[in-house]
Amino acid sequence: MKYIEVKTSNKAYKIYIKNNIAESFCDYIKENIGKDCMIIIITNEKVHGIYGKKIKDIIGKEYETKEIILNDGEKYKNIDTLKYIYSQLLDFNVHRNDAILPLGGGVIGDTAGFAAATFGRGMKLVHCPTTVISQIDSSIGGKTAVNFERVKNIIGCFYQPDLILTDPEFLKTLDEKEIINGLGEIVKYGLVFDFQIVNDILSFIENAENDKDRLFDIVNDTRFNEIIYKCARIKAEIVERDEYDLNERNLLNFGHTIGHSIEKTLGFNKINHGQAVAIGILCAIEISINLGYLSKKFMKKILDVYDILKLPKCILKSDADAIMDSLKFDKKFSVGKNKFILLKDLNKPVIYDDLDENIIRNSINKHISHV
Ligand SMILES: NC(=O)c1ccc[n+]([C@@H]2O[C@H](COP(=O)([O-])OP(=O)(O)OC[C@H]3O[C@@H](n4cnc5c(N)ncnc54)[C@H](O)[C@@H]3O)[C@@H](O)[C@H]2O)c1
Repeated sequence: MKYIEVKTSNKAYKIYIKNNIAESFCDYIKENIGKDCMIIIITNEKVHGIYGKKIKDIIGKEYETKEIILNDGEKYKNIDTLKYIYSQLLDFNVHRNDAILPLGGGVIGDTAGFAAATFGRGMKLVHCPTTVISQIDSSIGGKTAVNFERVKNIIGCFYQPDLILTDPEFLKTLDEKEIINGLGEIVKYGLVFDFQIVNDILSFIENAENDKDRLFDIVNDTRFNEIIYKCARIKAEIVERDEYDLNERNLLNFGHTIGHSIEKTLGFNKINHGQAVAIGILCAIEISINLGYLSKKFMKKILDVYDILKLPKCILKSDADAIMDSLKFDKKFSVGKNKFILLKDLNKPVIYDDLDENIIRNSINKHISHV
């Protein structure tokens, strides 16, 4: 079966992408991490409500299985949740040989991944991503983290998984907001690495009759597996070349510098990651126009794509100064300098250090709506 192999400095692991792979989870776990271990499924109440029983029954047939069910939402990606996971792991008397299986989106993957990295100095980790973002991005590459006070992902570490089991069937229960969330990240891959990915997605809905359902048509289309595969492969190749995010991996942060600041300023509950990144991408394009790299025509073309994919183009009634302030807490702002990923042209990204603050502020202002 088609899989992607990720080779990092201390681990090589496989990403399997296949509809209904969930039914055969045990076979893949046995082959890739062994049979003599307990599996601790970490999920949230929402995902548990839809898939909890099914996945526990499947894995429970061959493995001793426990569950840890967390509250749902970015605001629970924090140290208190970690403490809860650690105390559950103690109660279950787990050992380093046992495996954590995060079943959920990026919030679950990042939090449970960090728990796996730190409990007993490192347990086995089998990601089972259930959102677009987690299938194309967050489950791959070993970044694990929780938020602390105002700062996103500030407490974390690199910890590669042992296996990633990606079942596109999970995407069928996402609501429209979460599909949009994922499409924002796909547009990022398209702009930075391969615009054919965006063209492919647009072609799935070219003849869509029902406007209301067009985003569901995208993730329900079997061709969407190829999009997941392409994005996952891009990410895997970059991780192999720059595991610790010292250089090329920074390119994946296109749109994220301002995106993260928007998330922090508005509050993690008001806007989701993908929406914030979608606006961050427009700001990065705006800055690239300002520096003479891109044309306004380019922006128009991207805004048209945003309309088709229902991506947000501006944030409501916000304050550019507040967003600028929170930029200073961003990890991508190193030693007082900002680091931006811009585009010199389509699929020609560039890492830009120390941009003029006014250029950044103007780009944000253009994407704040005051009505
Ligand atoms: N580690 C990395 O490299 C990396 C990369 C990108 C993003 N992230 C992180 O990922 C997080 C965002 O991830 P996300 O967009 O997956 O958000 P999320 O994990 O909050 O999931 C979004 C929503 O979808 C629900 N959900 C999940 N799967 C579902 C399903 N199959 N059906 C129905 N509902 C489902 C969740 O319960 C939640 O309400 C952020 O915290 C971000 O910082 C990490």
